[in-house]
Amino acid sequence: MQSDTKTHRISTSDDIEVSTYLGIAQSLQGEEQVTKETPPLSGQETIIILDFGSQYSMLIARRIRECHVYCEILPHDTPWEKVEPLNPKGFILSGGPASVYSENAPLAPTYVYEKHLPVLGICYGMQAIAHQLGGQVTPGDKHEYGHAVLHLDVQESPLFAGLPPSSPVWMSHGDVVSKLPPGFRALAYTENSPLAVIGNNDDIFGLQFHPEVTHTPQGTQLIQNFVYKVCGCSGNWTPAQFITESVDRIREQVKDGKVVCALSGGVDSAVTAMLIYKAIGDNLTCFFINNGLLRREEPERVLDTFEHNLSVQVVYVEATDRFLDRLQGVVDPEKKRVIIGEEFIHIFEEEAEKLGQADFLAQGTVYPDVIESSSSPEHKASARIKSHHNVGGLPERMKLNLVEPLRYLFKDEVREVGLALGLPEEMIWRQPFPGPGLAIRVIGEVTRERLEILRSADWIVMNEVKKAKLYGELWQSFAVLTDVKSVGVQGDFRTYGYLIAIRAVNSTDAMTANWARLPYELLDRMSERIVNEVPHINRVVYDITGKPPSTIEWE
Ligand code: XMP
Repeated sequence: MQSDTKTHRISTSDDIEVSTYLGIAQSLQGEEQVTKETPPLSGQETIIILDFGSQYSMLIARRIRECHVYCEILPHDTPWEKVEPLNPKGFILSGGPASVYSENAPLAPTYVYEKHLPVLGICYGMQAIAHQLGGQVTPGDKHEYGHAVLHLDVQESPLFAGLPPSSPVWMSHGDVVSKLPPGFRALAYTENSPLAVIGNNDDIFGLQFHPEVTHTPQGTQLIQNFVYKVCGCSGNWTPAQFITESVDRIREQVKDGKVVCALSGGVDSAVTAMLIYKAIGDNLTCFFINNGLLRREEPERVLDTFEHNLSVQVVYVEATDRFLDRLQGVVDPEKKRVIIGEEFIHIFEEEAEKLGQADFLAQGTVYPDVIESSSSPEHKASARIKSHHNVGGLPERMKLNLVEPLRYLFKDEVREVGLALGLPEEMIWRQPFPGPGLAIRVIGEVTRERLEILRSADWIVMNEVKKAKLYGELWQSFAVLTDVKSVGVQGDFRTYGYLIAIRAVNSTDAMTANWARLPYELLDRMSERIVNEVPHINRVVYDITGKPPSTIEWE
């Protein structure tokens, strides 16, 4: 088997691709694209998560945000000058792969212990606390990994409010705290960890287990207790609050400047556009480029949503011919992706030129993109496309700063904000759709005729999945037009037609996926309708491979 390292696929889904094309074009102007970043939220009460490299740091952040408390993940050695403006109410020290007694082990900065703010150390974070405050950490007799039962020594700690005397927790550690630092006492134990929870009278706590994972069912309660009862947070992180603050910040950043924003039909670019529109009204210009690779009725719906429901003016660019002409004769999936990226930039350039001076480019970057790019740039979707797409830069005069109002939101928070802004549910809950659109679902050459066949089949799949009330449950469900032809018999005639494949998967992040166990009756209905209603199709198959070894898309 050949491994293909030169892929143009991106691991994130939805509409990051569109904004990425623009990002690429900017960076190719020869200077770094971000000259003035969207400033972080300030004034908001914040829990600071200092990251020691745990795979779970993002989960800790998710849990805190679910409690309606704002938090940020920062590198463990972040200086106080960067932390102070965030109005910190407490610190969480994450887990991590290191051992505190090894050379160059990462430790918490001294302000964590000197500012008299509450601290919660999780796993490695707890060991760092013990080590730095005069206790002792030693390698455990054996690695403890998996379920354990936590027994509380003291019931009255605010950290334990509402917790039963015993509850299951998830352990994953090698080292153990073997001697308490002065002033600390044991608050709870498990069979193998006599010091499973420790604390002192200054609200510094350590947990040997992971409260952020679902395997610790009381973990959310524990985190909630920490942020509300120990740190005294009020829980003011709500969509309404975010919208108010975000609108103020956009006004402050943009002033009288002009902003351009490319809509893709996905939720991120839609929410970005709505927030900016709320802040600056007609100084925002949205573009919607119809590349001819969208699903049935999609361009009409996007336009209708923005112009009629939300009163946002959109420059609609009908560019089907340009994209399809360039895709003529192209069968290689990666070539298709590059062509689509290039053409997008060219059209955007031309349209922006017509507009006159623009000052800002809106992008729908979300928090996981920010974290991934700061920890490992190679994981950033845009970085990956950047290195492969050979697209031109934006015109010299378009020195655009970025407006990224979603920079600090997780995807489900983006959805909540979208709902609060009045975006239709249909757009909020749209399944991910790839930037190159149907071009990578028509296997082989992309022609108008083949796109139309796919659109009809895809319409039926979508329609039946929705009727079966499974649309929201599935990560993605769609049709693929293969280049396989086979013999069939319809009525009195033999046919030689195309094969449609149905793909439906369950996933949480598109990195892995399982094929969905759709009911036979549903598969039967889709198959029957497709062969009866879609010309040139005489056979339908269902894709029963997971990812890995397959990918979600066929190309
Ligand atoms: P794969 O096929 O790699 O897809 O399992 C993972 C997720 O990414 C989407 N996808 C893309 N999205 N440009 C995009 O914007 C692309 O080139 C692209 N390729 C795949 C896919 O729909 C799935 O959600």
